[in-house]
Amino acid sequence: MEDYTVSIDGLHGRKIVLGVSGGIAAYKAAELTRALGRMGADVHVALTEAGERFVSALTFHALSGNRVWTSPWDERMENGMPHIALGRGVDAIVVAPATADLIARLANGLADDLLATLCLARDCPLLLAPAMNRQMWENPATQRNVARLRADGVIFLGPEEGEQACGETGPGRMLEPGALCEALVAFFTPKRLAGRKVVMTAGPTFEAIDPVRGITNASSGKMGYAVATACARAGAEVVLVSGPVAVPTPAGVRRIEAASALRMRDEVLSALPGADVFIAVAAVADYRPAETVGHKLKKSGAAMRLELVPNPDILAEVAARPDAPFCVGFAAESHDLDAYAEGKRRAKRLPMLVGNLLADGLCGDDNTVVIYDDEGRHPLPRAPKAFVARQIVEHLARLLPTAAG
Ligand code: PMT
Repeated sequence: MEDYTVSIDGLHGRKIVLGVSGGIAAYKAAELTRALGRMGADVHVALTEAGERFVSALTFHALSGNRVWTSPWDERMENGMPHIALGRGVDAIVVAPATADLIARLANGLADDLLATLCLARDCPLLLAPAMNRQMWENPATQRNVARLRADGVIFLGPEEGEQACGETGPGRMLEPGALCEALVAFFTPKRLAGRKVVMTAGPTFEAIDPVRGITNASSGKMGYAVATACARAGAEVVLVSGPVAVPTPAGVRRIEAASALRMRDEVLSALPGADVFIAVAAVADYRPAETVGHKLKKSGAAMRLELVPNPDILAEVAARPDAPFCVGFAAESHDLDAYAEGKRRAKRLPMLVGNLLADGLCGDDNTVVIYDDEGRHPLPRAPKAFVARQIVEHLARLLPTAAG
């Protein structure tokens, strides 16, 4: 089972009709149903006759908690018209898997079963996750149908390349449930940062003493990666310069590895041209060893002195540039958050800084932050980092037009 904890937000209150047509990838639709439900969506499954050959209606009923619809003649719907009623008040119809046959029927406006009729009678967005053999996908007839549906405003999620159930390898694999959930959250996120380029740092730095030892800190990268995810979902082009962390790269984000502060500075400066925003979430080591020894140091039993020299302050350097983007700093403090955080904001002349209380520890899943800007302090309630990140991005987007525009 995939881990959806990174994206457990964003679908609360959403009503989604999940169409399932007849392909072997239908088994993934069962997992998708559960994942969407865990992310807060109210999922109603419409199953084609062929889809039901792969996974039973009972499975989808159990996983969604809602009755499953298979026939346009189903009399359980109060007005006896599930093909109309089921599609009303819905935020999106998502078809996963969408077979070549279903795509062909939709492209031609057919209404020969419940799912096709629902799609034709919809008044909400339609998203299709194709799944088929690579040659079926590449066939000019399928490509014509896809182009026609795209022109009609239908959104395609995938397919991806890879090993197929038939044993062949190529394009046509349905996206995994986690990727489909992520794509849906991104779809519903207002594109407040569309057209903006965001350069960011995240994670700790590692300042090498010798080839196997170094100075680092407990930053997990979770906060920074959550901010990168929120920026990407909000439509930004995101370049994430990251210290060593074990967090997967968020969808739609370009990640550049930079272990040390010096390397992080270089990577930030080369990514900076064209940036509208710079967000410094990284816990950058203030000092590094004056010298990195080229071989593994041997234990001698005697006391050892390590000379440290200051690292460049990446955020201060970027914020001081004449062409500085809109700069957002972070500050982690164990006490006197207001004084220290606002002090750092003023010292580095930042329009916005996010202060976190270390009460939550560095690498936990939740955070309690206060946003500081020229208007004052804006405390946010303690929440999972994904929620906090979304609010930070909302705040940033509100300040951007005046500050950078
Ligand atoms: O990664 P997590 O486990 O989720 O934890 C997230 C976090 C606590 C590390 C993060 O939310 C955070 O607060 N990061 C900033 C940590 C800090 O206190 O930084 P600072 O006070 O040393 O620096 C202030 C600001 O200047 C920060 O934006 C920092 O990225 C930047 N800075 C600092 C030093 C330096 N040499 N270069 C910098 O760019």
